[in-house]
Amino acid sequence: MLKENNLACDLVIFGAKGDLTKRKLLPALYKLEQYQEINENTRIIATGRANWDTENYIKITKIAIKKFLNEDIQDIVWKKFSARIIFCNINVYESSHFFRLKKILKQKNNTVIYYCAIPPETLNSIFIGLGNANLNFSSSRIILEKPLGISLQTSREINNHLSKYFLEKQIFRIDHYLGKDAILNLFSLRFANSLLFHNWNNKTIDHVQITVAEEVGIEDRWNYFNKMGQTRDMVQNHLLQILTIITMDAPSNITSETIRDKKVEILRTLKSINIDNIHKKTARGQYSSGLINGEKVLAYLDENGANKNSQTETFVAIKIDLNHERWSGVPFYLRTGKRLAHKYSEIVIFFKKSPIESFQNFNSTLLSNKLIIRLEPDPNIQFDILNQIPSLKSKYELDIIQLKSYTLNEKYSQKYSVNAYERLLLESMRGIQSLFVSREEVEEAWKWIDPIIDGWKNTKKNNLQLYKSGSWGPKNSNILLANHNHSWYEFN
Ligand code: BG6
Repeated sequence: MLKENNLACDLVIFGAKGDLTKRKLLPALYKLEQYQEINENTRIIATGRANWDTENYIKITKIAIKKFLNEDIQDIVWKKFSARIIFCNINVYESSHFFRLKKILKQKNNTVIYYCAIPPETLNSIFIGLGNANLNFSSSRIILEKPLGISLQTSREINNHLSKYFLEKQIFRIDHYLGKDAILNLFSLRFANSLLFHNWNNKTIDHVQITVAEEVGIEDRWNYFNKMGQTRDMVQNHLLQILTIITMDAPSNITSETIRDKKVEILRTLKSINIDNIHKKTARGQYSSGLINGEKVLAYLDENGANKNSQTETFVAIKIDLNHERWSGVPFYLRTGKRLAHKYSEIVIFFKKSPIESFQNFNSTLLSNKLIIRLEPDPNIQFDILNQIPSLKSKYELDIIQLKSYTLNEKYSQKYSVNAYERLLLESMRGIQSLFVSREEVEEAWKWIDPIIDGWKNTKKNNLQLYKSGSWGPKNSNILLANHNHSWYEFN
């Protein structure tokens, strides 16, 4: 049975032999086939420089899907899926090659979607090639992967160039965190639960912590990562997306594109961090060798291709304050790093202590309520509530009880757990932009990030601390919070 909204598309992938295509796109498309979400007439047109043909590429696709999905391929699904694949040999620096693509696209009257799964330096030649061959027609769409530039200026250059060929409504900028179930659930959590909705402000919330911890290192991506660092690679996009969703005002319609405007409004309220306050507001680190899951791993400076003098950070913690009436006085602490002790992402909302003095008399260190939103792995929600310890003592003693939800997987079973790329590919086929990042969002994020990176570069004080792989980051990260009488909520 065919599902709503799934138009017949020609999905053209630039970068067909790349890591992203094999690891994420092909497995996600195969799953969409299995869920019967793809229109009968949709085609997948893989393009690349290699001298392959369609038969050859189908074989490569099968190997990749098997490897990265890690499950048996179903014959019926595979038969339908493989029949959609066409390989088109294009060197994106050769404008004439785009006419080969034109010939294929002309065979059908499908909605054309271009997916740029290629390094950013190749983007311009794709825009030009498509433009020269008149393939940027108004019904077409283009999907771009992050990073979009490495600064406000470079990002503007890409966006300006892109806007010569495509209108904003045709452009789908991917941040795969926006396709994750647990992140989307933040909207329901905040706006559908009146208890939380009415208490989501500086009257009840003391501070918020957002952690995205990774076990992986840079995975043989020295050239890419060393230019970026964890701040550009993770904070500029994924962590700021989480922060804006956690703090934005309610959009008029939860599925509409007004969500993007609400996020931009928040980005404009982030107080500047620059050379003057960088030491008070940030901590950076770089991993040295250590153990991850019992296995020895290399230091960042010993990774393949490393430049031994690199000052690039693989860990960053930031204290963010907002110029926003509802959030005045509430610090948001973000931290993310590679080669940390466990892979997990979590938001912890620390509520203020009860103002009732009689309890404080008994308990000078009275604890407070916490809402712990585990995003990954096994998304779940925990609410720490204060409770009296039953006893015959005259003293009134309080303790924390943890109310914990099912994990989403337990409650709804695995079949409802959608991979981020499956969701985002489908949304792009439907032509809905709300889960994609607008130009304004990308540029506002860079506006805030640039002075942080310049601050680190230009300050005389050394601000890069080594941390052991398998730890929770450099000491400075703890000091950053301790300076405000806070401490990181520990992983458990
Ligand atoms: C990517 C970054 O965008 O996100 C990687 O480039 C990072 O460096 C990855 O490892 C993390 O994604 P996830 O979904 O595993 O949290």
